[in-house]
Amino acid sequence: MSPDSKPILNVSKVVKRFGGFYALDGLSFHVVSGEILGLVGPNGSGKTTAINVISGLYAPDGGEIVMDGVSIGGMASHKLVHRGVNRTFQVPKPFMSLTVRQNIEVALAYGRAAVTPPTTEALLDEYRLAEVADRPAADLNNVQQKILDLVRALATRPRLLLLDELAAGLNPTELDWIAERIKALAQTGIAIIVVEHLMGFIEHITDRVIVMNAGKEIFEGKLAVAVQVPQVIEVFLGGEHAA
Ligand SMILES: Nc1ncnc2c1ncn2[C@@H]1O[C@H](COP(=O)(O)OP(=O)(O)OP(=O)(O)O)[C@@H](O)[C@H]1O
Ligand SMILES: [Mg+2]
Repeated sequence: MSPDSKPILNVSKVVKRFGGFYALDGLSFHVVSGEILGLVGPNGSGKTTAINVISGLYAPDGGEIVMDGVSIGGMASHKLVHRGVNRTFQVPKPFMSLTVRQNIEVALAYGRAAVTPPTTEALLDEYRLAEVADRPAADLNNVQQKILDLVRALATRPRLLLLDELAAGLNPTELDWIAERIKALAQTGIAIIVVEHLMGFIEHITDRVIVMNAGKEIFEGKLAVAVQVPQVIEVFLGGEHAA
C-alpha cells in the first residue's frame, strides 16, 4: 500500500441501531486497494455489524459509506456485488443442496460483468475443493464450507472483500495456507477487511488494524502498537476474549 493511495472505501460516522441499542455508534475508517485491514475487538463490539452494513445486509441509521466516491449506504447487496463488494459469513451459508461446483457457477454468473471471470476448475484447484466438487455443500465439513464461502465471494470478482472470521476453526497448516491466499489476493489489488479474533493471524497478514469497542473505533494503526495502548489492553482483558 502506498500511503497516498486513494481509499476505495470510506466509512464515516456510521450508526446502526437495533431498537435502542447502538451496535455501531459513529464508526469511521477507510481502506485502500491492495490493503489488508484488520477489524478486531471483543465479542459484540460491532465487527460483524460493520460488515453487514458495508455489504448491504443492513442499511445504516446514520453516517456515510462511500466507495469510489459513490455513497453506497443502504444499497442492496446484489447491487453492491455488481459494484465489486462481497463478503464471507461468520457462519458460512452456501446453497446446501447444490454441489460445490454449482455453488461456484451461480456466483460466477452473478458477478461483476466487466471483469473476465476465473474458471470453476481454476477456483476448485486453487482452493483445494476439486475432490469435493460434485458433492452437495451440505456434505462438506465446516472448514470446507468456509473455503467454499470464500470461493463463492471470489467468483463474483470483488474489489472489496470482507472476511468475517474466515480463519476461526482452521488448523495451523490451514491457517498458513489461507494467510498466503489472502495476501496473494491483496497483491492483485483487492482491498480486504479481515475480522478475526486470532491475533497471531491478524499480526501476520494485516497492514493496519482498527480496534473496535462498543460500535466505535478506539485505535487505528499497527497491531504491534495497539497491544501497548492501555485502552486497547483494557478492552481485551476486560472482555470475554483475552486473545
Ligand atoms: N440483528 C440484530 N438484532 C439485534 N441485535 C443485534 C443484531 N446483530 C447484532 N446485534 C447486536 O449488536 C452487537 C454487535 O454484534 P456483532 O455481531 O456486530 O458483534 P461482533 O463484534 O461481530 O462479535 P463477535 O466477535 O462475537 O462475532 C451485539 O450486542 C449483538 O447482540
Ligand atoms: Mg461477529
